[in-house]
Amino acid sequence: MNELFLSNQNEVEVFERCFRSRIPLMIKGPTGCGKSQLVLHMASKLGLKVYSVACNEDTNAADLLGRYIIKGGETVWKDGPITQAVREGAILYLDEVAEAREDVVVAIHPLTDHRREIYLDKLSEVVKAHSNFMFVASYNPGYQRGIKQLKNSTKQRFVTIHMSYLEPDLEHILLCELTNVPKDISKKIVSIANRIRKMEEYQLSETVSTRLLVRASQLIVDGMDPRDACHISIAEPLSEDRQIVGALKDLINLAI
Ligand SMILES: Nc1ncnc2c1ncn2[C@@H]1O[C@H](COP(=O)(O)OP(=O)(O)O)[C@@H](O)[C@H]1O
Ligand SMILES: [Mg+2]
Repeated sequence: MNELFLSNQNEVEVFERCFRSRIPLMIKGPTGCGKSQLVLHMASKLGLKVYSVACNEDTNAADLLGRYIIKGGETVWKDGPITQAVREGAILYLDEVAEAREDVVVAIHPLTDHRREIYLDKLSEVVKAHSNFMFVASYNPGYQRGIKQLKNSTKQRFVTIHMSYLEPDLEHILLCELTNVPKDISKKIVSIANRIRKMEEYQLSETVSTRLLVRASQLIVDGMDPRDACHISIAEPLSEDRQIVGALKDLINLAI
């Protein structure tokens, strides 16, 4: 796995400080700006394992804390990912925590304050976190959601870093490092991305993520025509409106 992480600001330093001071960390930022990549990078740097949990409506507290399962005709307790991370001293990464069910939010609260513990009601056991345990969560504040928003009382439990897309020079370096795309093409791709990011008239609910640019570069390195690669990696994923997709393709055709 590639744990390369490039940074606009002090994310790496803040992450390390939070780890040392046992402070839970929230990473907020748009889709594909490197939130998960930062966590993988830091896990490798700090020598910790990561338990990643994608929060959604179907995941309840028992899924994450643990439950009794039937194994070889016997009923045995199996720790869920939160409990495993807490016991072993790993990074617990709750991705898209705004999507988490209320029972999950309640279960994690005692992990995010001075207690650093969880309560397993089925076992009547309080599990104190290992000293290397670190709690990291992420959410995307710009995402157009229905009713779900992260509560202020939950937000205030975390030190928070705001990530944005890399500065053009860094994003260009990243594409070249990750995919070996020729430098002149990488520059053009980054410039297309930044033009689209600045455009408000298309009212895109999500803008061009670094992830999309990595995909376009990969296809070009595989031999695909750069325009076609950008059409399918950048223009199509961004909108369902054919006119807008057409305008994005025109912009791409002029730039590459
Ligand atoms: N700052 C960054 N440093 C390194 N890679 C990045 C960065 N931002 C984005 N990427 C690349 O884009 C992909 C998507 O990033 P990811 O961390 O999964 O985004 P997020 O979790 O914010 O949605 C990653 O797999 C990585 O290849
Ligand atoms: Mg992610």
